[in-house]
Amino acid sequence: MACAGLSQRPAALLWGWLLLGCSWGPGPPGVGAAPRFSAAYVLDDAGGLGRRFDGIGAVSGGGATSRLLVNYQEPYRSQILDYLFKPNFGAALHILKVEIGGDGQSTDGTEPSHMHYEDDENYFRGYEWWLMKEAKKRNPQIKLIGLPWTFPAWIGKGENWPYDHPDVTVYYIVSWILGAKQYHDLDIDYIGIWNERAFNSKYIKLLRYTLDKHGLQQVRIIASDRLWEPISFVLLLDSELHGVVDVIGAHYPGTKTVLNAILTGKKLWSSEDYSTFNDEVGAGCWARILNQNYVNGKMTSTIAWNLVASYYEELPYGRCGLMTAQEPWSGHYKVEAPIWITAHTTQFTQPGWSYLQVDGHLKGGGSFVALTDGLGNLTIIIETMSHNHSRCIRPLLLPFSVSPQRATFYLKGSFYMVKTLQVWHSRLGFESAHTTLFQQLHPVKVWKGSFSLDLNVDEVYTLTTLKTGQKHIYPDPPPSQPFPSNYKDDFNIRNPPFSEAPNFADQTGVFEYFINTSDPGDHVFTLRQVVVQRPITWSSDADQTISIIGNFQWENFTVTCDIYMEQPRDGGVFVAGRVDNGGIYVRSTKGVFFWVFADGTYRVTGDLGGEEILMKGDSGVRAHAWHTLTLNIQGTSASGLLNGYPLWENVTITEPSNGWAAIGTRSFEFAQFDNFHVEAS
Ligand SMILES: *[C@@H]1O[C@H](CO)[C@@H](O)[C@H](O)[C@H]1NC(C)=O
Ligand SMILES: *[C@@H]1O[C@H](CO)[C@@H](O)[C@H](O)[C@H]1NC(C)=O
Ligand SMILES: *[C@@H]1O[C@H](CO)[C@@H](O)[C@H](O)[C@H]1NC(C)=O
Ligand SMILES: *[C@@H]1O[C@H](CO)[C@@H](O)[C@H](O)[C@H]1NC(C)=O
Ligand SMILES: *[C@@H]1O[C@H](CO)[C@@H](O)[C@H](O)[C@H]1NC(C)=O
Repeated sequence: MACAGLSQRPAALLWGWLLLGCSWGPGPPGVGAAPRFSAAYVLDDAGGLGRRFDGIGAVSGGGATSRLLVNYQEPYRSQILDYLFKPNFGAALHILKVEIGGDGQSTDGTEPSHMHYEDDENYFRGYEWWLMKEAKKRNPQIKLIGLPWTFPAWIGKGENWPYDHPDVTVYYIVSWILGAKQYHDLDIDYIGIWNERAFNSKYIKLLRYTLDKHGLQQVRIIASDRLWEPISFVLLLDSELHGVVDVIGAHYPGTKTVLNAILTGKKLWSSEDYSTFNDEVGAGCWARILNQNYVNGKMTSTIAWNLVASYYEELPYGRCGLMTAQEPWSGHYKVEAPIWITAHTTQFTQPGWSYLQVDGHLKGGGSFVALTDGLGNLTIIIETMSHNHSRCIRPLLLPFSVSPQRATFYLKGSFYMVKTLQVWHSRLGFESAHTTLFQQLHPVKVWKGSFSLDLNVDEVYTLTTLKTGQKHIYPDPPPSQPFPSNYKDDFNIRNPPFSEAPNFADQTGVFEYFINTSDPGDHVFTLRQVVVQRPITWSSDADQTISIIGNFQWENFTVTCDIYMEQPRDGGVFVAGRVDNGGIYVRSTKGVFFWVFADGTYRVTGDLGGEEILMKGDSGVRAHAWHTLTLNIQGTSASGLLNGYPLWENVTITEPSNGWAAIGTRSFEFAQFDNFHVEAS
């Protein structure tokens, strides 16, 4: 029916040979008739090109968003990485931005620092090194960015602030860049300042000076990963700072920039954006901002938070990744719609291409961008996202309307000779059943430099001279499964591939594999909490440390763990169940917490903060000895065992009714854990 509608139009209206009319989907009556809006757009490079395109990317971290990815079994883990990074495969990302772990909570967890303490240096912690290497393995051209959210305490010498001693912070950051090269052969392309916090001009200048001194001239500086101001204004006033900042990176700019930013003459990036639940509306958000960040705001790079939703879904901003991989225990993952929206741009452009100078607003609503490699290739990306199909989590999106429309493109200058364009198409519904993603259609024939396209709402088209596009699909991964209800870890691993134990998600503090070679035998391999001073925070870390694990739906539990306090005077450790919060909300976490303290007492509390005391008494437990804690929660009743003997019982629990299991410490202190076991329902 839709195709018939096309052929009924007067021939004079049809510029070029059009085989795209079949894309009409269900819509309001009359959609198949001639569109109300019809307009012509000229693509010409004769008068020069627009801004240089710097690529589309995503953030791993900020924080701990790739935590569960590393524990996937093969072949699933490699499949996920292929969907993200492999050229002409899936999302084919141009940029990977990683958190420089700083031991503090950075949204969905903490990431370990390469320097927990002043005299400490270790470039094998965490999973961001591994992820950067996996990305480079698949795409050697991928650009790498590092950015800190938090810093270990020693950087601030007692202050919750990284700029009082800029030389110390510069040393710490430059060490990370040098370590990336020395231990992993990774060249970092861009370095940021401090995520969504204040910048300091003296610090930025010293950073540039020190980078250059170490032969790192190629490392470019992004500032300030917050708003357009005040950095733009300061760059206009301070010519020395202007000389050292390469990119102005703004977060969640809502596709707009400000005059001062343009006046700086700097590259403008949306250096963090998206952050939206990865369903069809999230995909619409992503499609809209990928185009309109340039069309409205002259931004030449857009970077999604986050790369892959690999954290427990009930943590803040669950599933706000380009795809979902949050079940290493089952191998299940999902290639969500934003992956294929990304492919519309990434598979047909590269950093170093240029935008064409053209107003990319479509007359009937929506937008287009056109890019060229300067060697005759042309890629046009069109999006017609409607308002309620493309809302991002922030900022507020003012109302607008988008209508079905006809767009006629005139190719001029070096594109006049283009004869055919490859066509890739997506149409977003509100359910995946009504959605088509990244389908290749018949090429469009360009006749005398012109072709027309009938656009419906909520569509994305890529028209390109490149024939390299591919939509790869692996066989379905295993089905989704809940976290195993009977789970043990004795931490007895000799050459751990990662510094953290599988599935434990640190929310304050850092829990690492530890080897005590002088232990007589039972506890040589343990898990140790290693952050001993409150870090320079980015959000409200708790005053206690905590690592969560398991299934948020769990109600009835037995959690058992061997514990070892290392702090003799005021040390304390806990095991917990029904833990109901984490991430940036970790301070207000509730649950059932069974604590023992080095002064020989115990407590049962309803919160991590320890204010809601349900039971207390003497335990006889001391530091520097191993003990076994068991917490049992059934319905509204909880009981606790010490070394297998009942210590307390019949404590009434009304809420929370469910949550994760957890281990942790009373303060920022060393403590060890061994033989963790949870059985739950
Ligand atoms: C387009 O890109 C391809 C692949 O990079 C290249 O081989 C070709 O020379 C470019 N130019 C044209 C006009 O195809
Ligand atoms: C979005 O708008 C369309 C058209 O007005 C409407 O049919 C649809 O129900 C809306 N969907 C949502 C989720 O609001
Ligand atoms: C290592 O084990 C020995 C022997 O049990 C013990 O004395 C020492 O405190 C342990 N060290 C740590 C850091 O746990
Ligand atoms: C938890 O235990 C209570 C009391 O024994 C029971 O009523 C409830 O159904 C159990 N919940 C689950 C999910 O098994
Ligand atoms: C706990 O409750 C059970 C069942 O109500 C009861 O038999 C037992 O005596 C109670 N124990 C204590 C220490 O109160």
